[in-house]
Amino acid sequence: MHLEYVQLGLVTLNYRSRTLGVIHRPNCTIQEMGMQPVREDLLIGISDYIDRLFVPPDDALEQNLKDTDAAGMPAIAISPSQGRLMYILVKMTGAKRVLEIGTLGGYSTTLLARALPADGKVVTLELKPEHEVVARKNLDRAGVGGMVEIRVGKAGETLDAMIKAGEEPFDFVFIDADKIGYAGYLNQVMQLSHSGTVIVGDNLIRHGDILKATPPDEMAAGVTAYNKLIATDPRLESILLPILKDKIDGMSISRVK
Ligand code: SAH
Ligand code: DHB
Ligand code: MG
Repeated sequence: MHLEYVQLGLVTLNYRSRTLGVIHRPNCTIQEMGMQPVREDLLIGISDYIDRLFVPPDDALEQNLKDTDAAGMPAIAISPSQGRLMYILVKMTGAKRVLEIGTLGGYSTTLLARALPADGKVVTLELKPEHEVVARKNLDRAGVGGMVEIRVGKAGETLDAMIKAGEEPFDFVFIDADKIGYAGYLNQVMQLSHSGTVIVGDNLIRHGDILKATPPDEMAAGVTAYNKLIATDPRLESILLPILKDKIDGMSISRVK
């Protein structure tokens, strides 16, 4: 059974079960449901269509990805349309103070900073000093370096230090570092939030890995636990959005009550 194909089937079945009263059959294959598997070329086509139509060309961000790649760092920055979504979300919330967990080359950081007013600030946490060097160069070149502070170290420890120091709460938080740490980061981020803080998480669908009864790896286990937390924590109101790239991933939006 192709588990990775079941996700869209379940969405359809859930929809039907509400509108037509059809009973949910989570254990049948997409073929048994008489549906087509999700085609990779279709995902890429739709994703490219959205990027072309809605995401303006951006020399600084293109150079960011080139330099990140040239430094031998992984190509795991958020997609252009995800960046666009976050940029708009930050503007909508009127955020001034943004916290990011997982900097890489500063691609997402650039968009977060650009969405802020001139006196806004991004604090971004990164494990690897060599990533900080690349990110710093990219952020300075994009003209947002003065608004961004990069703190190097294990995010869990940096967040603990921030809580202990009584750091001013953040208006917007983006969690995008090691997936195993997400649940712990959420707990810490809650202590650096106020009513109205928006918390976004990346990589929360993992091409359907979250549907499997037993998570196939510890990253899937980490994000599955995070999804359950944000869905059920009474202090939050949350949603998870599927994100189309070459594969299907997901991004959550939570608001602290
Ligand atoms: N937000 C970036 C991508 C981040 S990739 C963008 O979209 O452009 C994930 C980053 O998290 C990597 O740079 C990795 O080194 C960092 N990371 C991994 N484990 C970490 C930890 N324990 N603490 C802080 N950063 C970590
Ligand atoms: C991967 C993707 C990400 O967006 C990320 O933040 C970390 C890892 C990955 O595909 O391995
Ligand atoms: Mg990510």
